[in-house]
Amino acid sequence: MKSVICAGNWKLNKGPKETQSFLEKFLSLVPSAEDNQFVLFPPAIDLVTVSQFLQNRKIGFGLQNCYSQDSGAFTGENSAQVAQELGASFGLVGHSERRQIFKETDGEISLKVKHLQDLGVTPVLCVGETWPEREQGKTAEVVLHQVLKGLEKTNLEQKFWIAYEPVWAIGTGKVASPEQAEEVHALIREYLKSKLKVKQFVPLLYGGSVKAENAQALASQKNVDGFLVGGASLDPLGFYSIYKNSLA
Ligand code: PGA
Repeated sequence: MKSVICAGNWKLNKGPKETQSFLEKFLSLVPSAEDNQFVLFPPAIDLVTVSQFLQNRKIGFGLQNCYSQDSGAFTGENSAQVAQELGASFGLVGHSERRQIFKETDGEISLKVKHLQDLGVTPVLCVGETWPEREQGKTAEVVLHQVLKGLEKTNLEQKFWIAYEPVWAIGTGKVASPEQAEEVHALIREYLKSKLKVKQFVPLLYGGSVKAENAQALASQKNVDGFLVGGASLDPLGFYSIYKNSLA
């Protein structure tokens, strides 16, 4: 039976109180998670709460975004080193909302990926095409370009994960079909192997309107190793059901 990784991206949702009630319920559902089977990306301000709850638990967590330096005169930024001090072992980089709303460039993204790796934190590089790009037949070109540029400064022998998140599927309820997801995941897998000569196994997560109802069909695809879940990760039972259903 395949065991998928379930990562929850809470975006700008939940404060410490809601985080606490989520974790109380969630931990009662998953008393014995395996290493990194679940990863949570709460807002940075909730990391202290998360780290207190997840001490001695095998549930990973991390920042949704970080700056490419640890400290200094960078008002409003988040330090991956500080997150790491709290126990964070993952960092999301290049989410489409960062790229689109905050105009993050591939150059900045590659610096963040490198910075996380230098700290020993696992970067989760997010890539994905827009609907017009898909319609114009540019999916492979766009996605592989983002992979190439995002990993430009990366030590390819050190751990990293990739999340394929078609922009048109994020928060829209319009999930990619299992075949669409598999096609792009297989492309990324092959590109890492043949073009970038990556030897390690790189987990490839799918993200975009994943929920309990569609998890099983997506998880059954060969190259889908897990999910990056937004909206449906906000509810402990909904999030856990994605994991449960994908085992079925
Ligand atoms: P969604 O978001 O599950 O709400 O579509 C996914 C993401 O943005 O990571």
